[in-house]
Amino acid sequence: PVLVVDFGAQYAQLIARRVREAGVYSELVPHSITAAEVAAKNPAGLVLSGGPSSVYEEGAPGFDPAIFELGVPTFGICYGFQVMATALGGEVAKTGAREYGSTAVAIEDEGVLLGDQPAAQTVWMSHGDSVSRAPEGFEVLASTEGTPVAAFANDERKLYGVQWHPEVKHSEYGQDLLVNFLHKAAGIPGDWNSGNVIAEQVAKIQAQVGTGKVICGLSGGVDSAVAAAIVHKAVGDQLVCVFVDHGLLRQDERRQVEEDYVKATGVRLVTIDAVEQFETALAGVTDPETKRKIIGREFIRTFEKAQADLIAESREQDGDPIRFLVQGTLYPDVVESGGGTGTANIKSHHNVGGLPEDLTFELVEPLRALFKDEVRAIGRELGLPEVIVGRQPFPGPGLGIRIVGEVTRERLDLLRKADAIVRAELTEAGLDQEIWQCPVVLLADVRSVGVQGDGRTYGHPIVLRPVSSEDAMTADWTRLPYDVLAKISNRITNEVEGVNRVVLDVTSKPPGTIEWE
Ligand code: XMP
Repeated sequence: PVLVVDFGAQYAQLIARRVREAGVYSELVPHSITAAEVAAKNPAGLVLSGGPSSVYEEGAPGFDPAIFELGVPTFGICYGFQVMATALGGEVAKTGAREYGSTAVAIEDEGVLLGDQPAAQTVWMSHGDSVSRAPEGFEVLASTEGTPVAAFANDERKLYGVQWHPEVKHSEYGQDLLVNFLHKAAGIPGDWNSGNVIAEQVAKIQAQVGTGKVICGLSGGVDSAVAAAIVHKAVGDQLVCVFVDHGLLRQDERRQVEEDYVKATGVRLVTIDAVEQFETALAGVTDPETKRKIIGREFIRTFEKAQADLIAESREQDGDPIRFLVQGTLYPDVVESGGGTGTANIKSHHNVGGLPEDLTFELVEPLRALFKDEVRAIGRELGLPEVIVGRQPFPGPGLGIRIVGEVTRERLDLLRKADAIVRAELTEAGLDQEIWQCPVVLLADVRSVGVQGDGRTYGHPIVLRPVSSEDAMTADWTRLPYDVLAKISNRITNEVEGVNRVVLDVTSKPPGTIEWE
């Protein structure tokens, strides 16, 4: 692999993704990694990320300088560039010339890293300190008005660095630069793709599971659907999937799982109909946190019961209990919870959480090394229907937290209709790539006066919450074209009885969250 060393930058995951986009498998490692640990992973290359600190600050994230002696081709970015400079005898100074945002850079190089690029280009900068002198043996490749040493190279030792951020889209030719480092400078072939991930995972799952039985909870979302499909490809009917219909799903979601998904994969699926159970549990509740807790609790109860039934059935059949649980854990989940090992006691896993103490499973997590867009590519490769693979992130508590006010069956039906219209129109307008997700919210406790036909109406507003985001931690409201908004508004007020107004949420996150509850 290529190791991306994380110096605490929000960009480290983005770098890892860009490396994979260049067809090279990458993993994130902490900056505290030692030379021996790096050597043990036998990497084809290293990329050092940016970071929020100054190299001279007390407590600035350190880096084992012996790593530069391993002979591994290394590319430093921003803070990583400065770490490389100081470790190898160069100099970093507080020049006072801070550069933030788009910056013009002059390329003065014929070499492998930047030689094929325009001599003048715009790049994204974000730094206070600058490299004032390159280490001995390094050639200066580029400069900006405020930064005389904006890029350097030592071809012999295969050590390279740039002050700017090639991983962000605002850096023209940024991806070309990474590709040059990976393919040309480090000589790593770009042959990593979703096809070989599937083959690799299938073999790994077969080795892990053997003839054991496996269970998987399907949420209707992308991650669990793709995880189950890979496991099914690996072990066939040793896998049973459980899908809980809690009545808070979007239109057609249950059918998509029960018919389209099963048809595409052939998995054995057990659906638990828990609509009434959830309806009763949520009756009269309006507080968002209380709703979330009730939904979480009822979900776990239902899932547990289905599990217990399946385990009992399996014991009766052949005395062989279900030993494995599939989870659609993604790489960002792993990183956010601070790493972790392949198998864990199920209790400690927040995405299932709260299972009985005596119920311990070995986890099967085929997506642990992947990002969402990669998971989607694999789903497509496995032949899963686009309605499942291409869908927006959808919260576990479902439409229950998109009705501000009490959740009732009538309100859910109404919201489902409005939501279906929004999704259809966004897809029709080709906007699915541009938006991260677009929650549709019913303000059930608000009413306003309207006029329709010849009569007065007194109906509820629907809120559109289209957002753009990289990872849902922060988000901006998406500037949807007016004609698309007009069409959505028209259709909702005409087709959804009880709604007489459509409003647009123009709040970023922070201060708003993506969901309303
Ligand atoms: P917020 O509203 O916190 O949402 O900005 C961030 C992202 O998380 C999703 N979300 C959830 N996902 N269970 C989930 O699986 C939840 O309880 C939950 N709440 C919010 C939300 O849709 C957005 O993508």
